[in-house]
Amino acid sequence: MIISLAEWLRSVEASALATTIRQSLWLYPFLEIIHILGIVMVAGAAILFDLRLLNITFKIPVSQMAKYLLPWSRRGLFLVIPSGILMFITNAEALAESGTFQLKMILLVAAALNAFIFDVLVFKPHLKKSEAEPVRSLSKLNAVFSIMVWIGIISCGRLIAYL
Ligand code: HEM
Repeated sequence: MIISLAEWLRSVEASALATTIRQSLWLYPFLEIIHILGIVMVAGAAILFDLRLLNITFKIPVSQMAKYLLPWSRRGLFLVIPSGILMFITNAEALAESGTFQLKMILLVAAALNAFIFDVLVFKPHLKKSEAEPVRSLSKLNAVFSIMVWIGIISCGRLIAYL
């Protein structure tokens, strides 16, 4: 039996887990705190690395900055995604229809694609060359796009409750 997306969202929102979170005084705020901690790790580390690619921060070699910062950005996903999904299920129908939430999800896909393109087309080839060689203009483009997308995701996240 195939159920529609609307029926699925309704059943998710009516689930015991979603109801427990909705009825708890502190569970939702706790999830928001975990979500914000994850955001600090994911977007914070990514933006610091982007600033290095734009030569705005100190001259630590790009490969060393990447080796230190990018794993922390990835680890943050283990906080931000589960907490986001658990907050989402409490209000699934309304959030799924929210243009702000939809834009946030589209920007998340754009951020992931941008990171993948950077890794495959820019960073790995760069590692094969000497650190002395300047960062290619493509990665500066990557960095500017990444910073704009993360600011967009964070803005949408905050505005979900208002718009
Ligand atoms: C790295 C990825 C993400 C970032 C940077 C991000 C960013 C944010 C920000 C800044 C907020 C506002 C927090 C506040 O002011 O309390 C937020 C709230 C929220 N996010 Fe995310 N988020 C991310 C991933 C996700 C995912 C994957 C989902 C769900 C599938 C999600 C669902 C939500 C929900 C439901 C809220 C709560 C809205 C509210 O009650 O005000 N987020 N997010």
